[in-house]
Amino acid sequence: MQTKTPHTRVLLHNAAIVTGQGAERGPLGNWESLGWLPHGEVIVAYEGDLWRTVWLGQAQDRDRPHWDSALDLGGRLLTPGWIDCHTHAVFAGDRSHEFAQRLTGKSYAEIAAAGGGIVHTVAATRAASVAELVETAAVRLTEMAAWGTRVVEIKTGYGLDRETELKTLDAVRQLQLRFVGRLTLVPTAMPAHAIPPEYRENPDAYVTLICEEILPALAHAPLPVRFCDVFVEKNYFSVAQADRVWQTAQRLGLRLKAHVDELSAIGGLDWAVAQGAVSVEHLLCTDAVGVAKLAGSDTVAVGLPLTSVFLREGFAPLRALVDAGARVALATDCNPGSSMTTNLALALQIAVLMARLTPPEALRGVTRTAALALDQVDGLTGRIAVGERFESTLLDLTHPDALFYAFAAPPRAHPLVADTLHAASVASRVSVQNRR
Ligand code: NIG
Ligand code: FE
Repeated sequence: MQTKTPHTRVLLHNAAIVTGQGAERGPLGNWESLGWLPHGEVIVAYEGDLWRTVWLGQAQDRDRPHWDSALDLGGRLLTPGWIDCHTHAVFAGDRSHEFAQRLTGKSYAEIAAAGGGIVHTVAATRAASVAELVETAAVRLTEMAAWGTRVVEIKTGYGLDRETELKTLDAVRQLQLRFVGRLTLVPTAMPAHAIPPEYRENPDAYVTLICEEILPALAHAPLPVRFCDVFVEKNYFSVAQADRVWQTAQRLGLRLKAHVDELSAIGGLDWAVAQGAVSVEHLLCTDAVGVAKLAGSDTVAVGLPLTSVFLREGFAPLRALVDAGARVALATDCNPGSSMTTNLALALQIAVLMARLTPPEALRGVTRTAALALDQVDGLTGRIAVGERFESTLLDLTHPDALFYAFAAPPRAHPLVADTLHAASVASRVSVQNRR
């Protein structure tokens, strides 16, 4: 007999909700402009493989439909699930010695020129087992979840050969299984992260290897990559080399992301926007022309304020980008060389204090615009809206201003919603099986 999938409906009530519904571009002055429901309630339904929002309102609303079970959120703050849309969170080894050198005045570029930098982490990652990669990254992902992150983009790029790039992607697959219900992982191919030592004298041959072997393998892996990212930078990849990588990635059905204007501006921004890149990232040296170019495009500008602090560099022109009308997202850039942190909550605070975004603009940057920077993969829209996939972050706070106030505060994400919905989805699947 055919059985219908039960629609488990859960009412989440007694919450202060920021829905994330509002303008995707331009300045935001107050929480109302980002969908503020101080006495918010939401009904979510489990539909086979994910939770969807079926109703959204306030305690006083009279049109609330039926629900099967209720969860009191104790007046806590509920926002769309935070998306860390730019990380390099799977790697082996550490570079604290390089950090110490930088504190005595050596630059990131000088350390890289002397044989350190990304290739140092590449050697450690090649030598590591997949289990080591999983265990070390699991610590970082656990921290990320505690800060409030619910979706993590993870780039390969510490392998720089077919085997190690695939090993990194396999680690992401295993981590996704381990963190199911807590985190959604979105893998990006980034073999064009640096020139590996064995191709130092012939970088174009490495670009050929990327196109002929590495990208096709990553695009057809058991957990396939969704995006291709390229580090367009002096001593890394020229625009011409990046374009070769992109021509292949495009044929494989991937969307383009690019690290541009991080240490120097070599034309990566113009090229990426012209190619319809879903996002460009870093933008420390982006000038007024670049700002205007982004404002006139759909490409998301991803600001990485913690990298600026960690490298003791200036900030991307995030205020100017928002004012001009560009889509602006924020992320941690979690990586061992230029941003050794998992703390997306701190990225929000630094974006407000140092790069002068308003709090609603910053929160939009890790929700709605971060989802756009991931091309809304797997139905991730970065907002709480009827009919859309439901992903949320619950915080031990009662007002969104508090997110920004207590500086470098300890982790404040609360697992109640994620744990409850995960348990309910498992129970619903079991009851379907028992009826078969
Ligand atoms: O985003 N820009 C290139 N990649 C990283 C740094 C990686 C590393 O130093 O290991 C970044 O800054
Ligand atoms: Fe990066």
